[in-house]
Amino acid sequence: MTDIFDKVVKRMGPLGQWADDAHGYYTFPKLTGPISPRMVFNGKTRLTWSLNNYLGLANHPEVMKADADAAAQFGMAYPMGARMMSGNSDYHEQLEHDLAEFVSKPDVILLNYGYQGVVSAIDALVDRHDIIVYDAESHACIMDGMRLHIGKRFMFQHNNMESLEKQLNHATKLAEKTGGGIMVITEGVFGMSGSQGKLKEIVAMKQKFSFRLFVDDAHGFGTMGKTGAGTGEEQGCQDGIDIYFSTFAKSMAGIGAFIGSTPEIVKYLRYNMRSQIYAKALPMPMVIGSIKRLELLRTKTELKDNLWKVVNALQNGLRERGFNIGVTTTPVTPVLLSGTIQEASHVTHDLRENFNIFCSMVVYPVVPKGVIMLRLIPTAVHTLEDVEETITAFSEIKRKLDNKIYSSETVAKAL
Ligand SMILES: Cc1ncc(COP(=O)(O)O)c(C=O)c1O
Repeated sequence: MTDIFDKVVKRMGPLGQWADDAHGYYTFPKLTGPISPRMVFNGKTRLTWSLNNYLGLANHPEVMKADADAAAQFGMAYPMGARMMSGNSDYHEQLEHDLAEFVSKPDVILLNYGYQGVVSAIDALVDRHDIIVYDAESHACIMDGMRLHIGKRFMFQHNNMESLEKQLNHATKLAEKTGGGIMVITEGVFGMSGSQGKLKEIVAMKQKFSFRLFVDDAHGFGTMGKTGAGTGEEQGCQDGIDIYFSTFAKSMAGIGAFIGSTPEIVKYLRYNMRSQIYAKALPMPMVIGSIKRLELLRTKTELKDNLWKVVNALQNGLRERGFNIGVTTTPVTPVLLSGTIQEASHVTHDLRENFNIFCSMVVYPVVPKGVIMLRLIPTAVHTLEDVEETITAFSEIKRKLDNKIYSSETVAKAL
């Protein structure tokens, strides 16, 4: 017999194994000062490209005021209880109404967190007779929702429509035997690569196969489409998305999430999503603050225009200087370099300490062995000077990487 505590602390997990060296610097770093592109890390101001504050709403004066006024009026405890029992309010319903109108869905259910909302929606929507067909690069919340699913699931290669069609053929044959249905799950914008899910092509497959489509548009909501209503709007296929999900954690710079669907499905979810029935409702300041955020997202179109000005300058500038930024067609900007995990940490250290640039570093197993991905998230509040400063710094670190400067422990230590 084993003691569970002995076992887990020996194992520590894929990220935890690096904790002793990484904690406080590469992992759990503390960014302080007002949320903006220039924040303090390790005692110095750094140009920051790691926050999903796409539209710059996190520190917008109207948002700060709405949050503060609501907190002064209601505190953080209100409403007490789950919405079904004692935690509903006119504000919660108003936000649902505003969101439904904005994303062109007949109804919306508000969720108290995105991650658990997706897990729980998948759990509520499919039973053991049903089959899930999902994109290989789906976010952890989709994967974890599927871990609750006791029926079959088939994975299709990322954004590969031939692979999807093959899996839909398998799923259809199986569903005919089980008497169940099929749910295809993908994302609007994939948060690592910045690729868009091929929503329009997937919707077109409804001509040939019978399925429902669930789209997690966490990174697309507010950034994509003419009005910012997301990747379905961008690709002109919002109507074909049966379950439209987004979190408030990114463009909305808040906490919470929502699902838009038909009134019948929203009603079903209200009465069957365990994460909502058995958990406390979103606090009033988050709800009232989100109503304000959505109003600004809808009406201050210059925020999205500015975001895209920065995105285009950054992505074009990087491409022109020979950087590989993969297949992104969205604000998410991965810069793909080659090197070991040790070189990756030296690159990140050099960028932070000597160039005062703070961005996230992604290495194996999230990307293939030998790839170093520096992930930049441009926002509406970055400037073209920030872009230029970053591209110049990146050119210098690439030169050093190509000249193997980061691979020597002694040289790297002296950086
Ligand atoms: C694609 C995707 N789905 C869901 C979530 C989870 O949302 P939340 O932070 O609201 O739990 C995230 C991260 O925030 C995400 O990137």
